[in-house]
Amino acid sequence: MSRPYTLITGASYGIGEALAIELAQRGQNLILISRSGDKLHQLKSQLEYSYRIDIVLLACDLASEEGQSQAEGLFEKYRISTAILNAAQEWTGAFLDCSLEKMTSIISLNVMSNVRILHTLLEKMRLNGKGSVVVVSSVAALSPMPYCSIYASTKAFMLHLANALQFELEKANVNIATVCVGRTDTGMTRNMNVDNDKMAMKFVTAKESALSIIDKIGKRGSFIVGRDNQLLFGFIRRITPDRFLISLIGRMFENALIRTSLRSEPSALFGQRAKVESD
Ligand SMILES: NC(=O)c1ccc[n+]([C@@H]2O[C@H](COP(=O)([O-])OP(=O)(O)OC[C@H]3O[C@@H](n4cnc5c(N)ncnc54)[C@H](OP(=O)(O)O)[C@@H]3O)[C@@H](O)[C@H]2O)c1
Repeated sequence: MSRPYTLITGASYGIGEALAIELAQRGQNLILISRSGDKLHQLKSQLEYSYRIDIVLLACDLASEEGQSQAEGLFEKYRISTAILNAAQEWTGAFLDCSLEKMTSIISLNVMSNVRILHTLLEKMRLNGKGSVVVVSSVAALSPMPYCSIYASTKAFMLHLANALQFELEKANVNIATVCVGRTDTGMTRNMNVDNDKMAMKFVTAKESALSIIDKIGKRGSFIVGRDNQLLFGFIRRITPDRFLISLIGRMFENALIRTSLRSEPSALFGQRAKVESD
């Protein structure tokens, strides 16, 4: 019970996998969660062999009630000194084209699983008198995002929640940081319903994003990763009217979407909007 662990959710691929590799190199014992049990086992053997650390695995679906309660069960057994809440899914397209089932699953993973983990874990950290949490958010949290509305809203929810909790838990010596990561070359962006060449922002590697996240362990507050993102979502965001930025982002997505509308004919949705505007 006394050995400290770092928890990483969504550790099998992308930024989460890069986080696991980097933290293993630093000698940290890890608890890794994601759905792909085989991939997690492969990572565990490789990292335990190379770095002589202890790795605990939980293969579960964090979008489900059962998976969330399995994750909570770990906190009774292991002392988690640091938690990186990284698992998330996105969906890109028109809000009306996304099924309610898909939306519920995204909200359940990106929001509810984190809320439940925080509720149990922060109490343990408060009683221990220390702890560190990093919430992996996105630059998508920093503005309403047409055609990425559900994902961006879940990220904004977590950003607000983490900033509020930071204040509540400061006196308990528990540090909470939110890192707004920019576009990163992972399965998430490769499988997105957009032509990546038509998106304005550049890619960084999963390792680069992981290092930016690791840098914020033990720190407080919210951080935007990358100079371009800081300029756009920090400075320009502050001096630009909301409706202008939302329209800019909406038009960028309209230009980049591969499947424009799943229910109607391609472009029918955009055609309708254009008609209303010209009336
Ligand atoms: N990539 C970007 O451009 C970008 C930009 C900004 C922010 N971010 C944020 O960075 C974080 C990591 O994203 P990524 O790009 O590394 O994504 P990714 O490559 O798709 O990896 C997502 C990870 O989450 C796990 N996961 C997905 N659904 C899950 C579920 N229901 N239950 C448990 N685990 C689940 C996946 O593993 P399994 O499939 O095995 O479950 C995988 O390990 C996310 O919070 C994302 O919002 C990414």
